[in-house]
Amino acid sequence: MLKVLGVGGSPRQGGNSDILLKHILKGAGSAGATTEEVHLRDYQFQSCIGCEKCRKAEQCIGLQDDMQLIYPKIIEAKGLALISPTHNYNVTALMKAFIDRLYCFYNFSNDRPRRWSSRLAGQGRKAIVASIGEQPDEESGTGFTLDAMRLPIEALDYELIGELPVLGIFDRQAIKEQQQLLEKAEQLGNQLASQLERT
Ligand SMILES: Cc1cc2nc3c(=O)[nH]c(=O)nc-3n(C[C@H](O)[C@H](O)[C@H](O)COP(=O)(O)O)c2cc1C
Repeated sequence: MLKVLGVGGSPRQGGNSDILLKHILKGAGSAGATTEEVHLRDYQFQSCIGCEKCRKAEQCIGLQDDMQLIYPKIIEAKGLALISPTHNYNVTALMKAFIDRLYCFYNFSNDRPRRWSSRLAGQGRKAIVASIGEQPDEESGTGFTLDAMRLPIEALDYELIGELPVLGIFDRQAIKEQQQLLEKAEQLGNQLASQLERT
């Protein structure tokens, strides 16, 4: 089964990230994948508290919140699309909290500094990341947004298939007028699903 999970980090319902995510998943669907959308704002969860209980338990047991509903979706879907608007040159607090909660997927050694590996490694996982922001150029506006998603998911051994920085979009749903961009998002989703191995 080919599955792509789309995770949206915008606090604004029906905004640009939601529209972008829909198009990415439409593209993934056209390549034969089953898709699912998760909007982090719909889930009550907090950021990682560093309790380290996951080291022994090999799962997050320290926080019993709505991340427990999202973990099985992450494990099941070999394709992952992360979308975040830029908030202050970075991902939103929601997306950052989500990424920090992926800490439970690491194995750590006991020496210092700890060596680590990902429990999601070697499973053919692939991902795309997309950002959306108001400022017209990457340097002044997007800042760390794409890096903040790409680096942690690559560390978890997702292969990055592509990334999409969307610039110069502020008003809610303004992205709807950018047909070429939405087509690009669909293509990226299609590429992601096409490169997943059927299991
Ligand atoms: C708190 C906040 C901080 C923002 N910071 C930036 C920024 O640093 N750079 C930028 O280009 N846009 C910034 N924006 C604009 C949003 O990224 C932009 O409006 C985006 O289209 C929102 O996407 P959404 O509709 O999916 O929420 C910020 C918006 C908010 C609400």
